[in-house]
Amino acid sequence: MSDTVTITDNRTGNQLECPIISGTYGEPVIDTKLLHKELGMFTIDPGFGTTASCRSSITYLDGDNGVLLHRGYPIEQLAENSNFTEVCYLLLHGELPNSQEMVDWDHAIKMHTMTHEHLSRFYQGYRYDAHPMSIMAGVVNALASYYHDATDIQNPEHRLLTAKRVIAKMPNIASKCYRYASGLPFVYPDNDKGFVENFLYMTFSWPSEQYAPPPVAIRALELLLILHADHEQNASTSAVRLAGSAESNPFGCIAAGINTLWGKAHGGANEAVVHMLEEIGDTSNIQKFVDKAKDKDDPFRLMGFGHRVYKNYDPRATIIRKACHDLITEMNIDQPMFEVAMELERIALEDDYFIERKLYPNVDFYSGLIYQALKIPVSMFTVMFAMARSAGWIAQWIELMEDPDFRIGRPRQLYIGTEKRDYVDVAKR
Ligand code: CMC
Repeated sequence: MSDTVTITDNRTGNQLECPIISGTYGEPVIDTKLLHKELGMFTIDPGFGTTASCRSSITYLDGDNGVLLHRGYPIEQLAENSNFTEVCYLLLHGELPNSQEMVDWDHAIKMHTMTHEHLSRFYQGYRYDAHPMSIMAGVVNALASYYHDATDIQNPEHRLLTAKRVIAKMPNIASKCYRYASGLPFVYPDNDKGFVENFLYMTFSWPSEQYAPPPVAIRALELLLILHADHEQNASTSAVRLAGSAESNPFGCIAAGINTLWGKAHGGANEAVVHMLEEIGDTSNIQKFVDKAKDKDDPFRLMGFGHRVYKNYDPRATIIRKACHDLITEMNIDQPMFEVAMELERIALEDDYFIERKLYPNVDFYSGLIYQALKIPVSMFTVMFAMARSAGWIAQWIELMEDPDFRIGRPRQLYIGTEKRDYVDVAKR
């Protein structure tokens, strides 16, 4: 039996044999490329629920079994043993670096931590209370105007240089989003510090004080960056790829990703979770909110619950839950919201509504509590996510640019509008 699926148009009896293509893991896909040519039809799949948009060798996730691999390495092992810049290298190069490659990579990233001085003035155009995601998207987009030395997107060296710039500059840009809103002076990077420490230094140090973040905070943030670095073809990554497929400027593509991530169904959920937990306030109110989430007439959803792909525990949520517990214990923080979160998780996971729909806590459920424990303001949570995900976005953009199947992304539609009609002069309407 051949590896094909036969599609029969029952109206005409015409048939098309579509090849079934298998990857390393996961469900095989049906190649429907010839569907329009042979049968004169398109497919429709709102929300891309069953559509693979590309071939990729960067990240694999098995939603039924809660598995997440980057270049074949389980997320649990990376979280335990790696660091964010090493994960960036892995995502971009496909292999872990050896010792010398790691030294060279760290150095290369450090050589790009500064931003052009004029870019610092860009922030002044924003209102003092602008959302940092809006600022970040604008500033990253503006980076496109500074790097004319690397605008040839067909040149692999230019692409890698752009990747280094994106990864290295995001902490600097993110820190300024925070400091602008807080009325604090911008701080230049200190390349003697590690990637995460440098971010904390640029973000939270005061000109009048010595600043040394606790190692436990550095490690917690490093962990969050690793866990958010990539997640295959999610909405923001797909936005980056779609923009990239038009051969747009890569910084503009990353800005598209930032704007997509901002939504509360995606990266904005970490912010929404904390607002929700604060609204719940006390474990005695949880059932009321669980009932609201189940009520089909109420738009409320449990934030940080559910995932398009994970129909089991999100492996990142398992790691973050433990990290959150450890951090709160180690820093001796009174964090009543953590109690509320754990109890909410327990109640929801025993509820038939959530069991039947396989709704589990996702990465955003506990991450906000860690950011809160690190005194990162709520409006900055999604910025933190974007800082980490920029590594995945740029790796996926490079993969797209090198894809032999590269062509502009151009979905089709099923037109359900009005039939053709003649224009009527305004006086006669
Ligand atoms: N609370 C209550 N019900 C839910 C929830 C939730 N959080 N999530 C899904 N459902 C229900 C939904 O109403 C639907 O029920 P029914 O079958 O009766 O109509 C069913 O579960 C399937 O949901 P869906 O909307 O078809 O699932 P989706 O794959 O389109 O949406 C999601 C996935 C993540 C957008 C959604 O689960 C959600 O809105 N969750 C809350 C927001 C959130 O936590 N987002 C972060 C996602 S993970 C990190 C990231 O992507 O950045």
